Amino acid sequence: MEMAMVIMLLGLLSMTSVSCRPSYGLTASEYPAMNCRKHSASLTDYGGVGDGKTSNTKAFKAAIEDLSKFASDGGAQLIIPPGKWLTGSFNLTSHFTLYLEKDAVILASQDESEYPLIPALPSYGRGRDASGDGLRYSSFIFGTNLTDVILTGANGTIDGQGSTWWKNYKKDKLKYTRPTLIEIMYSSQIQISSLTLLNSPQWNVHPIYSSDIIIQGLTILAPIDPISPNTDGINPDSCSNVRIEDNYIVSGDDCIAIKSGWDEYGIKVGMPSQHIIIRRLTCISPDSALIALGSEMSGGIQDIRIEDIVAINTESGIRIKTAPGRGGYIKDIYARNVTMQTMKYVFWMIGSYGSHADEGFDPKALPEIKNINYNDMTATNVTMSGNLAGIKDDPFTNICISNVNIEMSSKPKKLQWNCTDIEGTSSNVSPQPCESLADKGAGNSFSCPFPTDKLPIEDVQLKTCTY
Ligand SMILES: *[C@@H]1O[C@H](CO)[C@@H](O)[C@H](O)[C@H]1NC(C)=O
Ligand SMILES: *[C@@H]1O[C@H](CO)[C@@H](O)[C@H](O)[C@H]1NC(C)=O
Ligand SMILES: *[C@@H]1O[C@H](CO)[C@@H](O)[C@H](O)[C@H]1NC(C)=O
Ligand SMILES: *[C@@H]1O[C@H](CO)[C@@H](O)[C@H](O)[C@H]1NC(C)=O
Ligand SMILES: *[C@@H]1O[C@H](CO)[C@@H](O)[C@H](O)[C@H]1NC(C)=O
Ligand SMILES: *[C@@H]1O[C@H](CO)[C@@H](O)[C@H](O)[C@H]1NC(C)=O
Repeated sequence: MEMAMVIMLLGLLSMTSVSCRPSYGLTASEYPAMNCRKHSASLTDYGGVGDGKTSNTKAFKAAIEDLSKFASDGGAQLIIPPGKWLTGSFNLTSHFTLYLEKDAVILASQDESEYPLIPALPSYGRGRDASGDGLRYSSFIFGTNLTDVILTGANGTIDGQGSTWWKNYKKDKLKYTRPTLIEIMYSSQIQISSLTLLNSPQWNVHPIYSSDIIIQGLTILAPIDPISPNTDGINPDSCSNVRIEDNYIVSGDDCIAIKSGWDEYGIKVGMPSQHIIIRRLTCISPDSALIALGSEMSGGIQDIRIEDIVAINTESGIRIKTAPGRGGYIKDIYARNVTMQTMKYVFWMIGSYGSHADEGFDPKALPEIKNINYNDMTATNVTMSGNLAGIKDDPFTNICISNVNIEMSSKPKKLQWNCTDIEGTSSNVSPQPCESLADKGAGNSFSCPFPTDKLPIEDVQLKTCTY
């Protein structure tokens, strides 16, 4: 009786100590995750060979199929040990963790036949690179209709080996759209963290039609454009409740791009990207944006919170991209504490982006762009402060810019602010913005708003798991 009590208490104690331990000061075999797993296996248990040459396509498939049996029994984790593990595209499963040890490198096969053809995304109607008869290459790591899936590690590497894809794309030799590195669709409870992602064939991380997502501690590297076209870092697309934090991205395209489908296809699917927080991002992207909203935004983009961001040698800060035909909306956007250095444009909005899926778009489908709030920013070595162009008879409204100090490069544009079809206010912004963003005259006591509530995904605590 007493013994049973002691055992019960010990059980309770060890349970609490596991779930309450903060996720710093972890030992080598511990890692933070939304969920821990009861079962564990190594890729070598399934015949994996980490010599960088042997194909592990069969080993990954066998391992994940086998471990999927534990989905309803506490889930399973697949450990990738140090080594170079070459493989073709593979599919994830539910209640599953892929864990890459330090010095583990998963190498993506460069053989096109290792990437199954799958249907184009319903909200895009076709592949972005090529129409491909409604088909596209599967992403390298793919998951669909899942719950509770985790990709993490001790900063192990996933190398997309994209160079052959980039070359073939530029030579216009691809019949189908290039694979993304990681795509997860129609899923919930997704964590992608503490990994190094290299050389994706195109976009790196693409959650779509999904919710409850944490993307954390990624180092994403690709040679800057024009070598690696469209290697965006993280692209949440028709996703809700997303937390993107502590990432370092050097990219050949936008560091982060929030999207929600393309023209008539995106309008029909009608799934917005919303309730997203992006914080503590460092971005280098000489030819693209720190954070783009669009250009595919036809399902709508709303309630986006951006804070504590550094951009270095990046074409623009936050960039709004849209066009007649897109429909949808971009509204309730909040950003604060952004530090920028060496920028072509600090603020950039473009209502004539064009780039349509096909001729079937409705030119009367005008996007609604409103309630965009930028507060507390500095930028140095800047060519132009604000290049803001709305749409004729469809102005971008309620734009608010406050407490911003911009220092020019040695060769600045003569016209620092160019605003057309833009309505809003400003306060304490230097150099002084255009007339359509008239200063409120409130000095630095005024700040454009930022939400005071927390998103549900901000309250999700990670547990300490072991492998
Ligand atoms: C992954 O799953 C999709 C269906 O959801 C399938 O078309 C594709 O062939 C699978 N990929 C692999 C590598 O088995
Ligand atoms: C995946 O989910 C989508 C959206 O709920 C659904 O339309 C589709 O049929 C599902 N696919 C599978 C293979 O269950
Ligand atoms: C991963 O890299 C980041 C950034 O360099 C570092 O702060 C973190 O401690 C590393 N994590 C592990 C588990 O090695
Ligand atoms: C602003 O962001 C920087 C970079 O992430 C951070 O170091 C700093 O503490 C932030 N400042 C405030 C007031 O939060
Ligand atoms: C300023 O920007 C120019 C490009 O516009 C770049 O060549 C130069 O190195 C930058 N200077 C500093 C101090 O960052
Ligand atoms: C200002 O922007 C408008 C609209 O994009 C453009 O037509 C015009 O040429 C720009 N003016 C200058 C001086 O760059």
